[in-house]
Amino acid sequence: MYENYPHGGKLVNRIDRLMKIDSSLKNVELGNMELSDMELIANGAYSPLEGFMEQKDYESVIQRMRLSNGLPWSIPITLAVDKQKVMELNVGETINLTHNGTVYGVMKVKEIFLPDKKVEAEKVYQTTDLNHPGVKKLFERPDVYLAGPITLRKRPKHNQFKQYHLDPIQTREMFNQLGWKTVVGFQTRNPIHRAHEYIQKTALEMVDGLFLNPLVGETKSDDIPSEIRMKSYQALLENYYPKDRVFMSVFSAAMRYAGPREAIFHAIVRKNFGCTHFIVGRDHAGVGNYYGTYDAQNIFHHFKEEELGIKPLFFEHSFFCKKCENMASEKTCPHATEDRIILSGTAVRAMLKNGQHPPKEFSRKEVVEILIEGMRKAYTKS
Ligand code: ADX
Repeated sequence: MYENYPHGGKLVNRIDRLMKIDSSLKNVELGNMELSDMELIANGAYSPLEGFMEQKDYESVIQRMRLSNGLPWSIPITLAVDKQKVMELNVGETINLTHNGTVYGVMKVKEIFLPDKKVEAEKVYQTTDLNHPGVKKLFERPDVYLAGPITLRKRPKHNQFKQYHLDPIQTREMFNQLGWKTVVGFQTRNPIHRAHEYIQKTALEMVDGLFLNPLVGETKSDDIPSEIRMKSYQALLENYYPKDRVFMSVFSAAMRYAGPREAIFHAIVRKNFGCTHFIVGRDHAGVGNYYGTYDAQNIFHHFKEEELGIKPLFFEHSFFCKKCENMASEKTCPHATEDRIILSGTAVRAMLKNGQHPPKEFSRKEVVEILIEGMRKAYTKS
């Protein structure tokens, strides 16, 4: 039986709305990813982290996918600053963390250290290829990491999907109110298609509730924008999902595209949001051909289920089979490849750009309409 305890045992809360802003402190400016990480540390989504990682945790995460205390953790959560700025800072001082000049909170500088980015890339992304969007971003970041506990004073403004931004304490309370003992979490960065719906509903046959948690933080430029993705979810929830068994809120982190390592990270965070189960399908959080189709499933075998504290539900690559007249996978369908409707994200994006409708067996018509309209707007804008 899975208890939905937060990772490490208690939900971190590093939010202090009453804290006085001290403008005499030195400012360190955060990027979009660091700002979203700061909020997710503060609201407990990244429990047990209380700040940006110190070197011993950073190295331990990179080398063995564990914090220095042994708890599983697969993605470094770090704050990068440039060398020039570091010259002004001292270990032990408290600094303001800003974004576009606005102070969001503070950090007590516990450590300043130089990461080995090549090792970080090799271990976390399994490649140093700068064509990999996560690796590219890693090497574009400044060269020094600042570490220490943070306190969030001001919540970042979420102009979009405001009502969908919930803290773990709120989603946990919601699952409680709904009476769900078992909840399966679903991560996504794409508009919903039939294979997503199929694996979500198959999982929902086994548990009390489905927690849809689309990622709306930074993604690579050719991913479909988050407002279009969210619209596609809203349309399907309205028409095809039982209202009392599905709950949606957004995950404001940036995508890392770290495939297997990110799958572990995604699972741990959803555990903090109160999930007992987590869906991992084909090439979870992958990009290009950097990871094998099922690497993000196999990586879970590095850990005992009880130390992760959330049960992964693995799904084979799913598709619509014209002969079965149904959604299926290799596990359930005996027919040939040509009977199956399988489209890559790139192929779908190309169709949409040309105003072509992907087949209804791939995407429901409500979603296709939203995608075509969204792409039309995007292209008339640019
Ligand atoms: S991800 O980067 O967030 O993983 P995406 O939104 O495409 O990308 O996938 C969300 C989840 O659905 C992931 O667990 C992924 O493995 C799974 N998934 C996507 N497409 C399929 C498919 N055709 N068959 C099985 N699982 C899939």
